Amino acid sequence: MVARAARALAAAGVEAARAEAEQLAAYVLDVPRGRLALADGFTPAQRDRLDTLVERRVAREPLQHLTGTAGFRHLELAVGPGVFVPRPETELLAGWGIAQAGRSAAPLVVDLCSGSGAIALAVAQELPSARVVAVERSPAALDWLRRNAAGRAAAGDRPIEVVAADVTDPALLADLVGRVDVLLCNPPYVPRSVVVAPEVAGHDPDEAVFGGADGLDVIRPVVGRAATLLRPGGVLGVEHDDTHATAVPALLAADGRYERVEEHRDLVGRPRWATASRRADGQHADAAPAWQTGSS
Ligand SMILES: C[S@@+](CC[C@H](N)C(=O)[O-])C[C@H]1O[C@@H](n2cnc3c(N)ncnc32)[C@H](O)[C@@H]1O
Repeated sequence: MVARAARALAAAGVEAARAEAEQLAAYVLDVPRGRLALADGFTPAQRDRLDTLVERRVAREPLQHLTGTAGFRHLELAVGPGVFVPRPETELLAGWGIAQAGRSAAPLVVDLCSGSGAIALAVAQELPSARVVAVERSPAALDWLRRNAAGRAAAGDRPIEVVAADVTDPALLADLVGRVDVLLCNPPYVPRSVVVAPEVAGHDPDEAVFGGADGLDVIRPVVGRAATLLRPGGVLGVEHDDTHATAVPALLAADGRYERVEEHRDLVGRPRWATASRRADGQHADAAPAWQTGSS
C-alpha cells in the first residue's frame, strides 16, 4: 500500500513521495510513522481512506491539510483551509527570536502576521517567562490562531495575547511603543508575478503569500513600525523572499533607527531573513551596516 501510494505521489510530481506516503499511511493507521512497519495492516475501510487521501495529494492538496496538522519546532499546530501552513525555514527565525528573548528575564515578544500562531506559540512554549503578543488580520487565520492558542494554553503554556489588526496600521500596538524586546515577522513576501507551487497557489491564502508587485508591501511598513515599538537594544527578525537579500537589509539601514543589520540564510542556503537591533535614541547611522561589510 505504501509503495503504491509513493509511486502515485511521485508520478504527480510530489518531491518527498515515499516520506509523504508513509506519513499518510501512519495517519490512516493512527500509529507514529516510525512504527509503520510494525502495524497490523490495513482494514478495507483504512485502505479506502488511504486511497482517497492519496488522490487528494495527487491533486496537490497540501499534506498538512490532509492530516490537519503541521509540525513546527516542538509544536503540532492545527491547520487547514484559510491559514498558511508553517514552513520549516521559519523555525530558524523563531529559534533566533527565542534565543534573543531568553537574554531578558521577562521579555515582551511580538509576532506580526501570526497565521496559525507558529512563531508566537513556539516562543510561549519554549520561553515560559515571555509575554507574547500575536497580530493577525485575516478572520479565517484568526480562527486557527485562536484555536491553536487555546490548545497550547490548555496544555499548560503561558497564554498568548491575540490581536486582530492590520500590521501596516501606523498606530499598530500603540500601548507597546518603545517596550518590545523582540519583534518577529514572517509576512507575505512573494512578488506578485512569481508562479508558486500548486499546493501554495491552490491552498495557502493569497494574502498570506503575496506582498505586492515587489513583495515588500508589508515589510516596508513593518520595518518602520517595529523601530517605534522596540525598546532601545530590542531586536527585529523578519523573513523575506530569496530575492530580497539586499532589499530588506537596505530598508533596515535606510530607516536610520537600526544597527547590527544582518542577513541570514535558510536550511538550503537561500537568503531568507534579516535581523537588526534598535539603536538607543540619539545614536546615528554613521557606521557601515554589517551586511555591507560582509559579516553575517
Ligand atoms: C506567510 S504567512 C505567516 C504565518 C505564520 N507567521 C507562519 O510563519 O507560519 C503571513 C500571514 O500574514 C497575514 N497578513 C497578511 N497581511 C497582513 C496585514 N496587513 N496585517 C496582518 N496580518 C497580515 C496573513 O493572513 C498570513 O496569516
